Parts: sequence; structure tokens; C-alpha cells
Amino acid sequence: MTQQKGAVWYEHLHTEKHTGARRGRIHTPHGTFETPMFMPVGTQGAVKGVNNKTLKEIGSQFILANTYHLWVRPGDELIAEAGGLHKYMGWDQAILTDSGGFQVFSLSDSRKLDESGATFRNHVNGDKMFLSPEVAMRIQNNLGSDVMMQLDEAIPYFETYDYIKDSMQRSLRWADRAQQYHKKTDTQALFGIVQGAGFRDLRTESAQELVKMDLPGYAVGGLSVGESKVEMNRVLDFTMPLLPEDKPRYLMGVAAPDSLIDSVIRGVDMFDCVLPTRVGRKGTLMTRRGRVVIKNSKYKKDFSPIDPDLEYYSKNPIRTEQFGNLAQYDVPGYSPYQNLSRSYLHHLFNANELLAAEIASEHNLRYLLNLMEEMRTAIENDQLLEFRERVLEEYGYNKE
Ligand code: GUN
Repeated sequence: MTQQKGAVWYEHLHTEKHTGARRGRIHTPHGTFETPMFMPVGTQGAVKGVNNKTLKEIGSQFILANTYHLWVRPGDELIAEAGGLHKYMGWDQAILTDSGGFQVFSLSDSRKLDESGATFRNHVNGDKMFLSPEVAMRIQNNLGSDVMMQLDEAIPYFETYDYIKDSMQRSLRWADRAQQYHKKTDTQALFGIVQGAGFRDLRTESAQELVKMDLPGYAVGGLSVGESKVEMNRVLDFTMPLLPEDKPRYLMGVAAPDSLIDSVIRGVDMFDCVLPTRVGRKGTLMTRRGRVVIKNSKYKKDFSPIDPDLEYYSKNPIRTEQFGNLAQYDVPGYSPYQNLSRSYLHHLFNANELLAAEIASEHNLRYLLNLMEEMRTAIENDQLLEFRERVLEEYGYNKE
């Protein structure tokens, strides 16, 4: 089940006995990383509020950046001149870049879409720009990401069958154009994106045609855009078995703990989402016992730790005595925020301190990266269903 060719390839380690969930590794020019994995989002070449050193310490493997944003500012050619995105942002592990289609649709003005590509005005200075499958590839080649996504059309879930069919088929043609354009297959991998909203025959056509192209990896797009969780699971149930077992499978834009587990159960290896950093900097913590809205007045005098389940701040708790005179925050894997109280974070948010966003963003990523780590262990031990029950119970889903 292992395919060793090209820049990025999947190594399968174990199939969970009861669910078929996959435990594997993705090999890239910037290292080998464990799956299932969650990729923090660094839209503009920076994960908001969390520096690279911290990202590594809390277990980030891949990070995601956005073609659209880096193209608009500072420009892909400037980044190429600087030596590529890894060097520019000082990140020596893997980078995946999204193709820009999704952002063009959510951020830009006066969009016009046809077979050739999308014309729009950018959200920074209003300049007119044209994004095509070839332009998206040229930009991603300049950025030098390990995984590049094909340009696709981001469409609402609840559109008509005919609309979704036309759009999905155009995305297939765009995948073909992206593949024709791509010349750097030894250093960068192009992933295709399965579309088709909730229509089984359209998802099937999309997946089958993309698989024929023999791309090094496949994503499922157009989900987590307002449809229910039951609906998302239904689509994954019939879509995932169509994707090759020897290649990475990526579900775009998902981070809710229950959805992560339910999607891994259906065979997903990779996820990304802005959720942990976005809700974090606005004051919502994701904890093992559910969400904590830290600005709530009930935390004003709550001197308990930010998250009482301290063990997951570090997968290998390191005792300070091992490190002699090092200050706590110099110990690898140890959070400088570990001993802070909810009251303090409540105060920082009320006082609009920058550190508030930093602590909360880091915390939420720690929570999710740790969840993935535990999920990998649960797969290895064939206990994913028990793990799911525990997480859902503790997070409070079962009470909703
Ligand atoms: N991010 C979340 N969903 C999607 C999608 O369908 N396409 C792309 N390109 N990015 C996404």
C-alpha cells in the first residue's frame, strides 16, 4: 500500500480493526510527518499569534498558507526572490498551500468566473487580478510549498444539481490544466480536490476522474460550509472509499473535535482549519471539557488553571529538575502559560492585551494537536471507538 514516487508520498502503518481508520506517515521534501494530522493555518505566512518555535514545540507538522493572500501581498515573485516561502517565513517543516479559489470567493469584489479562470478585485488595494489554474500553479511553484492544491471553484452546498454539476466538471478540467502546467513534480506535489456537494453521482464522477489522473494526493472540498454533521458524514461515507488507499486524503476546512474523529473513522488523514486560532483570539478556548468563553464574568475570580487537564500541555511531561537551573519556560515542550489562571486570561482579554490572543491561540492549537496525537495512539491500539466516546462525553457533545 505504499507508493514511493514524486515529492510527497504516503506510508501506511496500521488500519484500525473496528473502523478502518488509517494510521500512516506522509513523506515530504521537508520531513516525514505522522497521520492523521491537523495543519494549523498561516494564511499570510504566519500562524496568527503563534511563533514557529512554539508551533514546533506543540507538535505542528505541516502548516497551511494561502496562495491568494501571498500573491496579493507581498507577491509570489518577491517570495521566490527571497528563496521561497519556507526560507522567507523561517519554517523548515512541510507547507501546504491552498490554491486561492476559496479565498477569491470569500474575500474579493466584482468576481467574474468563466472557463479560463476568475477575474476579481483584490481585498487589499482593489487591483484587478486574474486567477487561472495555471496562474495558481505558477504562484505555488514560486512559493515552493510541498503540497499545492489545484484551483477549484468554491460553491455553496445548497445549489441546484445542474449548477453543482457544471462547477464540478469545470474543476475537473482545471485539475487537468494544473497537472499539465506542473513541471516541478520532484519537489512539489499537486493534490486534486473532489467536489460535488451532497450529490453522490457527482462526487463519484469527480473522484473517479481525479483518480484517473494519478495525482499524488486527494482532498475532499466543499464540506463544512453550512451543511449538518450528519450530512458531512453521509458524503464522506460514499466519497472516501473512492480514493486510493496508497495516497494521502485531506478534508479541507474542518476542526470540530467530533468531526475530526468521525472523519478519521471514514479514512481521512489530513485536516486544516482557521477555527482554533480564530476563536482563540476572540476569547474562546477549546478544552477537553468543552468550550470556555473566557470573557464571561464567571471567570473573573476563577483561579483554576486555564485548562485543568494539564497533562496534554506536553505529551512527555518534562520535570524541571531534569533541566537544572533552566527556567520553566525554557524547558522544551513546557508551556510558559501552564500555571496561569482563567482569571488572569479573563483580565488580559478585558484589558485588550496582545498576550491574551497569543495564549488562547496557542492553547487551542495545543488542544487540537494533542487530540490528533491521542487519536493516532487510539488507532494503533484499535480503540478508536472508545476514544470517540470519551472525547464526545468529556467535550459535552452528548449533552447537546
Ligand atoms: N477550503 C475549505 N474548503 C475548500 C474547498 O472546497 N476548496 C479549496 N480550494 N479550499 C477549501
